[in-house]
Amino acid sequence: MTLPIYTYGQPVLRKVAEDIPLDYPNLKELIADMFETMYKSDGVGLAAPQIGKPIRLVVVTLDVLKDEYPEYADFNRAYINPHIVEYDDSETVSMEEGCLSLPGIHEPVRRPTRIRMQWVDEELKAHDEWIESYLARVLQHEVDHLEGKVFTDRIAPLRKQLVKSKLSALQRGKVNCSYRVKPIR
Ligand code: NI
Repeated sequence: MTLPIYTYGQPVLRKVAEDIPLDYPNLKELIADMFETMYKSDGVGLAAPQIGKPIRLVVVTLDVLKDEYPEYADFNRAYINPHIVEYDDSETVSMEEGCLSLPGIHEPVRRPTRIRMQWVDEELKAHDEWIESYLARVLQHEVDHLEGKVFTDRIAPLRKQLVKSKLSALQRGKVNCSYRVKPIR
């Protein structure tokens, strides 16, 4: 089932999301719905607050990048209770980001290229691993959602000034995109 996306201005996007018990009701169905919603809207990542749930759950698909990054062929993963426990600040890269919750906004964001993350996978196996490259970028963006942050919180002040009117339009419910969104009231 495709779920409506919660866009900028929805209070759930500003909440700190909570860990879930591993017997969370209908977890498999929820993950499947999140994958479907992400595929239908051409996203590479989706965090549960973006479908209105303040819980620590993220899905990522990187298959679309396989020409540039062959290691991401068929990469479709769910991350349960992800926590970034270390950032390697020795190398940062600025890269343009977008977000299904902020349609029409694309801005460069500077982030570390390596992070250490703890999470549980779909088979309920626990992980504690260093992650790098494009996946580290996407996971930082998605885990930000779980901390109540969006990527425009991290852009340079001048750029923030330039997207201000777009953000306030979103906040007023003026959303223009090809996928279904939750109306702002
Ligand atoms: Ni996002």
